[in-house]
Amino acid sequence: MVTDLGTGIADAEGGPVRHIPVLLHEVVEALAPQPGKVILDGTFGAGGYSTALLDAGANVIALDRDPTAIAAGQALVASRNGLLSLHHTRFSALDSFAPEAGLDGVVLDIGVSSMQIDEAERGFSFQKNGPLDMRMSVSGPSAADVVNRAKVGDLIRIFGFLGEEKQAGRIARAIEKRRAEQPFQTTRDLAGLIEIVTPRKAKDKIHPATRVFQALRIFVNDELGELAQALFAAERALKPGGRLVVVTFHSLEDRIVKKFFSDRSGKASGSRHMPVAVEKPVIFAPVGKGMVAASEEEAQLNPRARSAKLRAGIRTDAAAMKADFSIFDLPDLAEIERMGG
Ligand SMILES: C[S@@+](CC[C@H](N)C(=O)[O-])C[C@H]1O[C@@H](n2cnc3c(N)ncnc32)[C@H](O)[C@@H]1O
Repeated sequence: MVTDLGTGIADAEGGPVRHIPVLLHEVVEALAPQPGKVILDGTFGAGGYSTALLDAGANVIALDRDPTAIAAGQALVASRNGLLSLHHTRFSALDSFAPEAGLDGVVLDIGVSSMQIDEAERGFSFQKNGPLDMRMSVSGPSAADVVNRAKVGDLIRIFGFLGEEKQAGRIARAIEKRRAEQPFQTTRDLAGLIEIVTPRKAKDKIHPATRVFQALRIFVNDELGELAQALFAAERALKPGGRLVVVTFHSLEDRIVKKFFSDRSGKASGSRHMPVAVEKPVIFAPVGKGMVAASEEEAQLNPRARSAKLRAGIRTDAAAMKADFSIFDLPDLAEIERMGG
């Protein structure tokens, strides 16, 4: 039985959803784990990547911002005789977990896990009724706080940029009207309003609330900011020859990773902020031939893999460069970001 969003698999009795690791073989190949290597898994989730890396003999330092993932991972920690350590933290701080000699590998599997989507109480899915929450770390402002408190202009920017929602203005204004009478509390509450404001047409492949829910999730968890910071942190934390492997599921995230590797590739390039091309050191050499997508076979077995993109690089011995966020060309959401968790 496939879950509502096709992101995981329930057991035959409809029991708890398992997270199926995406591009697992390709991730392990790109990281080249071996006994004695120290690899940081910044998105532990259900431990799929960490388990494969441990099985290949590597030492693993794993992080997750979700306390539920940390609690569920304790059994794996106990079974691996000190080869796995698991920490409750954001991956933007991953460099503070690196040993002095540096890391041999960093892997990030961006986004939510099947367990998070499947649990109605977490409020990630509009197909299950639950509190309008969406906080991976279960702390800070929730999606309900954003929907009930953000200025209409900010909601339009959030839905438009992070959700690429064409009806952002119409939806935001309807939210403003409705919340003045009764604040939003549940996922169905918000999804119901969006269904009324932008009814589904026969040709629509996705539910009308999909983009708004995606935008709120990315905003509430500052997912783009976390990713950008983590890439710079990995640059500082990897030793020469160390590998950075990132799997994304969304075009905005993939654009960030692509721009990062391009900026660190040593190619002279100009930008909106620096129109004159300048020479730069090579910080990451490419692994393989560029972006890797899931095979047809994997996409059939796991619909979540359909949008997955893997990019990887090998750290050179050049000194880490300054963390300059302008390379990502992201619109300035800083003002509203302060409200994000
Ligand atoms: C797609 S799942 C990872 C699945 C994992 N690779 C596996 O094989 O089981 C993503 C996980 O990363 C965590 N996560 C997302 N953003 C994070 C961040 N900024 N810092 C730490 N953990 C994060 C989520 O809580 C979730 O558990």
